[in-house]
Amino acid sequence: DAGKSGYDHYMLKEIHEQPTAIRQCLHERVVELEREIAVDSVASLSVPDRVQLVACGTSYHAALYGTRLLRERGVPATAFLASEYDVDAVPVDRETLVIGVTQSGETADTMTALREANSVGATTLAVTNVVGSSAARECDRAMYVRAGPEIGVAATKTFVSQQIALVVLASELTGEYDVDLVGALRDLPGQLQSVLDDSRARTVAEEYLDADAYFFIGRSYNAPVALEGALKMKEITYKHAEGFAAGELKHGPLALVTDRTPVFALVTEGANPTKTIGNVKEVETRGAPVVAVTDGCSDVERYADFVLEVPETHPALAPVLANVQLQLVSYWVANDLGRSIDKPRNLAKSVTVE
Ligand code: G6P
Repeated sequence: DAGKSGYDHYMLKEIHEQPTAIRQCLHERVVELEREIAVDSVASLSVPDRVQLVACGTSYHAALYGTRLLRERGVPATAFLASEYDVDAVPVDRETLVIGVTQSGETADTMTALREANSVGATTLAVTNVVGSSAARECDRAMYVRAGPEIGVAATKTFVSQQIALVVLASELTGEYDVDLVGALRDLPGQLQSVLDDSRARTVAEEYLDADAYFFIGRSYNAPVALEGALKMKEITYKHAEGFAAGELKHGPLALVTDRTPVFALVTEGANPTKTIGNVKEVETRGAPVVAVTDGCSDVERYADFVLEVPETHPALAPVLANVQLQLVSYWVANDLGRSIDKPRNLAKSVTVE
């Protein structure tokens, strides 16, 4: 218990370590960004013809976020579930950069995908938290996310660190340095701290403790966070949860929506807020409680039963803050249900079998 620094669970401690995790990830790199030079692990990498990101679980959600950042800078980037990579006839060649996003650097499926990429002469890069891990050793390059050790099985601070590392990587790889984004990165740890200090997540968790299921929706940058919000909820509460790109709601999931299925809607600047509010209205009409996670960019409050606020930041970073609100909701639901939060049943921190 000494390692928990007074928190009841490692997960809560690690959620609270996220401002520090961001600072560690950015240490020196933010100066590189300001000087518009790539001196990190991507130095001397030319802009590849295409980029493929391979990952599992939470890291896959970070990979999806990374593809969005790269595509915005004109790089054709695709994220693959590592377990599907070698069976899915993915075209990969010497002009491809394959990025393995893996906290542990040991996940068997991710390692298999990276080895496949190595075998055809692709350039490989590990974005990992563990120095000297298999991924770091076997890839051509390694970029460390520097989150520090994560004990809780459910990834929290390492996800945030992966997101930040991918922001840095996308800028350095393409040479597209956005002054507003760099400024926003500097403010991000303090803003994340304010989310932790002022969150109403515990109240929301108590209100919807008996829900039949929890749904999460978002568009653009927020779509991976919707998936991650649902995964976190499943992992530690054992309750049914699903995340969707908001536009998919009407193609099936809407049939599941009732007054006993709260819908968490991620509505932030630059991530199609108007369209997501359209989806919010659809679920509201069906009696579903709505929890808006928002930076105040719209009038979504009018349709929401609860609002979980995040500070205004660069549109690409709003999902980083929004995710923290969802982590806290899952944590408090699991806590109130008396779950084994740090070691959920049937799950392992690192899965070393395919
Ligand atoms: C396990 C963990 C997840 C993690 C996934 C990928 O399933 O329980 O939290 O996201 O592995 O792990 P990696 O170390 O490759 O990021």
